[in-house]
Amino acid sequence: MYKLEKISYFYGKKQALSEVTLEIKKGEKVVLLGGNGCGKTTLLKIMNGLIFPQKGKVFWKGIFLNKRTLQKIERDFRKSVALLFQDVESMLFNPTVKDEISFGPRQLGMEDVEDRVEKWGKRLRVSHLFKRHPGELSLGEKKRVALASILVLEPEVILLDEPLSNLDPKSTGEIIDLLWETEATRITATQNLSLAPELGERAILISENHSVIYDGPFAPLLEDEKLLLEANLLHIHRHRHDGKIHRHFHPHDWE
Ligand SMILES: Nc1ncnc2c1ncn2[C@@H]1O[C@H](COP(=O)(O)OP(=O)(O)O)[C@@H](O)[C@H]1O
Ligand SMILES: [Mg+2]
Repeated sequence: MYKLEKISYFYGKKQALSEVTLEIKKGEKVVLLGGNGCGKTTLLKIMNGLIFPQKGKVFWKGIFLNKRTLQKIERDFRKSVALLFQDVESMLFNPTVKDEISFGPRQLGMEDVEDRVEKWGKRLRVSHLFKRHPGELSLGEKKRVALASILVLEPEVILLDEPLSNLDPKSTGEIIDLLWETEATRITATQNLSLAPELGERAILISENHSVIYDGPFAPLLEDEKLLLEANLLHIHRHRHDGKIHRHFHPHDWE
């Protein structure tokens, strides 16, 4: 689905990704892990064709992606690849939830808009909210609506930027379950080490130097304190157990 060859990205002089090389196969569920500012959002934006690396090459289904080549395949690409922004509020701009979910399929000229909206509204348990204004929903509801608005396209690739941030445990569980209902290739960015293994099978760890320092299954990574520390995913602090004070490593599970 994707092949990234030594890509580097800079915002002006500020480096955000350094020589990232990756291949992602159809149907894979990949988790991009790393602390604040390591480059996760930048990488998702590149895979969504919103920005292009200054160095290295990106291929989507074998097609070299740059501004010019993307223009030629824009409609197919937008039908195939969908990104859930971290700030879902910035994605919601329609007067009602139903309009919100219908917007993408209408834009892309799909014929079965009504059926799709009914189906994905039900699947994401937002049908009862169809007439409501997206702005007045709870965060959990907003995330489900935003997710419905991309899943309704039935994309081949779903890119998710910290989809579980600030959700309560019930909403977190709901979103995780829903994600496993789709067979799409999925690439999820998170800094939540405890939830990360629930989101995919393959972990890609990005260090604060913006390069990939691990790419493989979760089990060995979760035991590798050195690597997790290098990626700012663990933190040592004093901790009280049964009246005794210990110092040991903890995951940082904010998002
Ligand atoms: N629009 C921008 N202008 C300048 N620097 C940016 C911009 N967006 C991100 N950065 C910088 O690029 C680096 C990677 O950012 P980002 O991809 O958002 O990381 P993450 O999503 O892992 O937190 C950070 O150091 C961040 O400050
Ligand atoms: Mg980010």
